[in-house]
Amino acid sequence: MLRLCGLQFLLLIHSAVWLHLECLSVSGPLKDMDFNVQEGGGPRILHQFTLEPPAVSFRASGEKAGIIDIDPKTGILYINGSLDWETKQVHKLQVESVDESGSRVKGPYAVTIYVEDINDNPPEFNQTEYKGVVRQNSRPGKPFMYVYATDRDDPKTPHAQLSYSILHHFPKYFEEMLFQIDNATGAISPTKTGSYYLDPLKQDTFTLVVSVKDMGGMTTNAFASSVDVVITVMESLWKAPPTIHIKENSTQVHPVNITKVQSNEPDVIYDLFEKEKLPRLPFSVSEDGTIYVTEPLDREEKDMYTFYVVSKDSTGELVEKPLQIQVIVEDINDNPPVCQQDLTVVEVQENEKGGSNIGTVLATDMDEKGSLNSRLRFQIQSQEPQYPSGSLFYIQQDTGTLQLTGPSLSKRDSAKYSLTVLVSDPDFKTICDVEVHVIDINDQIPIFEKSDYDSVTLSENTPVGTVILEIQATDGDEPATGSSLIVYQMKEGDPNNTFIIETDSETNRGFVKINKALDFEAMPVYNLVINATNPEPLVQGVQYNESSLATFKVFVTNVDEPPVFQKPVYKTEVSEDIPVNTLVMTVEAYDPEGDSVRYSLEGDVRKWLRIDSVTGQVYTASLLDREKEEIYSIEVAVSELNNAAQKSKAFLVLQLRDVNDNHPQIATDNPTFFCYPVSGGEKTLIQAIDADELLFYSKFTFSLADEMNARNNWEISKYNATHAYLSPKHGNFEEKVYDVPIILNDNGEPPLENKVNLKVSICKCSTENSCFIEIDRQHSWPTAGQAIGILLGVLLIIGLEQRTQKFATSIARQSPRVTSWCHSKGPSFQLFNCQTKPQSYRSVPQQGTILSA
Ligand SMILES: *[C@@H]1O[C@H](CO)[C@@H](O)[C@H](O)[C@H]1NC(C)=O
Ligand SMILES: *[C@@H]1O[C@H](CO)[C@@H](O)[C@H](O)[C@H]1NC(C)=O
Ligand SMILES: *[C@@H]1O[C@H](CO)[C@@H](O)[C@H](O)[C@H]1NC(C)=O
Ligand SMILES: *[C@@H]1O[C@H](CO)[C@@H](O)[C@H](O)[C@H]1NC(C)=O
Ligand SMILES: *[C@@H]1O[C@H](CO)[C@@H](O)[C@H](O)[C@H]1NC(C)=O
Ligand SMILES: *[C@@H]1O[C@H](CO)[C@@H](O)[C@H](O)[C@H]1NC(C)=O
Ligand SMILES: *[C@@H]1O[C@H](CO)[C@@H](O)[C@H](O)[C@H]1NC(C)=O
Ligand SMILES: *[C@@H]1O[C@H](CO)[C@@H](O)[C@H](O)[C@H]1NC(C)=O
Ligand SMILES: *[C@@H]1O[C@H](CO)[C@@H](O)[C@H](O)[C@H]1NC(C)=O
Repeated sequence: MLRLCGLQFLLLIHSAVWLHLECLSVSGPLKDMDFNVQEGGGPRILHQFTLEPPAVSFRASGEKAGIIDIDPKTGILYINGSLDWETKQVHKLQVESVDESGSRVKGPYAVTIYVEDINDNPPEFNQTEYKGVVRQNSRPGKPFMYVYATDRDDPKTPHAQLSYSILHHFPKYFEEMLFQIDNATGAISPTKTGSYYLDPLKQDTFTLVVSVKDMGGMTTNAFASSVDVVITVMESLWKAPPTIHIKENSTQVHPVNITKVQSNEPDVIYDLFEKEKLPRLPFSVSEDGTIYVTEPLDREEKDMYTFYVVSKDSTGELVEKPLQIQVIVEDINDNPPVCQQDLTVVEVQENEKGGSNIGTVLATDMDEKGSLNSRLRFQIQSQEPQYPSGSLFYIQQDTGTLQLTGPSLSKRDSAKYSLTVLVSDPDFKTICDVEVHVIDINDQIPIFEKSDYDSVTLSENTPVGTVILEIQATDGDEPATGSSLIVYQMKEGDPNNTFIIETDSETNRGFVKINKALDFEAMPVYNLVINATNPEPLVQGVQYNESSLATFKVFVTNVDEPPVFQKPVYKTEVSEDIPVNTLVMTVEAYDPEGDSVRYSLEGDVRKWLRIDSVTGQVYTASLLDREKEEIYSIEVAVSELNNAAQKSKAFLVLQLRDVNDNHPQIATDNPTFFCYPVSGGEKTLIQAIDADELLFYSKFTFSLADEMNARNNWEISKYNATHAYLSPKHGNFEEKVYDVPIILNDNGEPPLENKVNLKVSICKCSTENSCFIEIDRQHSWPTAGQAIGILLGVLLIIGLEQRTQKFATSIARQSPRVTSWCHSKGPSFQLFNCQTKPQSYRSVPQQGTILSA
């Protein structure tokens, strides 16, 4: 076998470039052969074919590309130059050997040269600049544009394997990128942070410098190119429409299109969720986001609706934050005026002068108060009889006040007039019936049957309500009118209303009753003067005189009465830690008849006290505890020593002063949470509470437990004596519930400290900054974010369950699990208020209420 070495070759093919060639160790007879040759690299020898007589030389034909050839004499197959993969990847040649006469001896044989790629081409973008548009609040990871680069190298090799990356990001407000690029596809999308913070009002143009590298971006000597990508941020299409006003009781054919929402994403499924618990939600949403009201609304039933519209992808995941829709139902005049009484009766004395106000017709209207729809006007439509004239009465148009127009009425003309009063609002009319009764003038005074009713003697314990006397006066005026009805009153002798007089309106008989307990010791005798009067005024010239008065005496007799306490309530304040047998107070009672008394306690259920039965001194009988009972209220009884039945009671109230004996806690009435993604620096208030009295927790101190995670993730700062701010220190929080160990100190006497684990949820928020959390439906539900779940009523969940059947039929029920909302498949969401938002880039958050019902 021939060994061909460089030096020998140098002689054959006079060129210095051969020098670097390695020795070619292969030679052989003519046959079909394949060669792999790297592109570039310059001239080289591939093979030497050996001559077999009678052949004397070789001949090559085919795709020689001007540089591939075989030396006829030596049989050396060589390339005099560089092959280029990008130009031609395979060269096919035919080689044959010939004899002296030029006739073929062997062959032709196929010699195939496969050119191998080397990485000799940098990637190139197919545009010099790219422009893209992204909507505010677009879904993170959802591409809104692509960049595209090519590389001429062999796509089967890493030489043409491209990897995209973002080199620069202008302007840069945040540590985190607002945009990301898929390194394989060149798809550009907002990051989670970007989805949250992008806002055309703050910054509407960004320039990214995107780089592409070949060799899969893996080696440092890969080729790279870069290009500018200019991104315009546009307002989100997905935004809540302004408050919608719908006229109630609409006659349009329902459903009626009231507004439209538009997702930033294509092909989303829209759905509605109620915010309030309603028997039904009279709204629906169509596939294209048009929202309809499904039936006429009634303002008098409900004048405002609030609900959410959500956009979901085909798997049921929420694509964007839920939007709140608010609908106000506007009043129309759909309620007629209503008379307050079927028949309004008015009495008028014969002597009433023209212009006198004789009564008012009352009517109401259910339409919106203060609007013209409930404005009522009054008008007399008819008067029966029309004698002596057709217009005896006048009604004030806007108040319904009835007056006499002209002369006084006379019973001889008519004792009764029937009026129809037309009450109208701008669209409706109602008739109210009125009867005017003409009554006699009041020219007779009540006359008592006797002027002196003598006396009665009553024991002081006669029960309240007892009738002690019946009286009678008579009145000559028209019966059953205000001119003859008699009202009896105690004119003199009863300053404290110890007595009361009731009248039988048919007979005018009066009944004197005891109104308040009698007390011999306070008032043994009453000298009473009773007067009798009419509710209607007397006609001019007539006056009540002595005949309308009567006198009466009441003698009160003494009975043995129970002892009485000096005070109805004995109250004192003591420290909760006083020792047993401490004197806390002394009660005192006396007996009206001067008998000796003895004291006892009643209702001392905690057995905290005892009383000295003779002196009335009250002592503690055991240890007290303010946290069991802050105000201990029992009764103290006193009775006559010789007649235990003569007994009375007073209240005994012990107010316990606090001693610091309770550990401080964190108030959990409101769940603590931050909207995801967290950017760091948001803050929310947390509150410390303590079962001890105010005095002892007026100065709580808050600190984080000395644990690495706590200190790295959170920050606490004092707000006031009871509240502190909690802030996440950075933005790398997942959507889940974190335990934050907090140390509370109440700074009391003695100071008490407590370590509590505060549950803090990081959750996706709605546009109203409410936390959206999926409820685990089948297990006991509050597993995710326990603190949160528990507070929100079962009602809401029930409400949602009902709605599931109605609105969410397309949603597959998933097996129970607890995840954050963005992975949820079911409609079971709950909403919470967001308390915090970053101050730096967005508007200041509003506090909303979710559970309004
Ligand atoms: C090789 O190429 C060079 C320049 O292209 C030429 O001068 C030389 O004659 C060639 N040699 C052979 C053996 O073809
Ligand atoms: C660049 O390539 C992409 C993807 O093939 C293509 O859609 C786009 O039209 C190209 N741009 C230009 C300017 O050729
Ligand atoms: C490209 O992205 C994939 C997945 O996103 C990642 O695993 C890979 O390491 C990335 N390649 C480069 C070169 O960054
Ligand atoms: C709606 O209006 C009609 C008259 O237009 C009225 O008869 C009906 O009572 C109204 N309904 C309600 C609920 O107010
Ligand atoms: C809804 O109403 C608006 C305004 O009246 C109208 O422009 C729109 O075409 C309507 N949409 C549908 C789906 O009827
Ligand atoms: C009747 O007695 C009452 C109560 O003292 C008093 O207000 C009223 O003026 C008296 N009426 C007459 C007519 O004296
Ligand atoms: C009326 O009440 C006052 C105060 O309660 C009391 O001092 C007075 O004795 C009472 N008078 C009568 C007649 O009961
Ligand atoms: C009171 O007046 C009536 C008439 O109104 C008269 O009959 C009666 O005698 C008078 N009584 C006294 C005591 O003056
Ligand atoms: C501390 O601030 C909270 C929230 O503003 C407030 O409700 C609370 O009353 C304040 N506490 C004190 C002791 O001032």
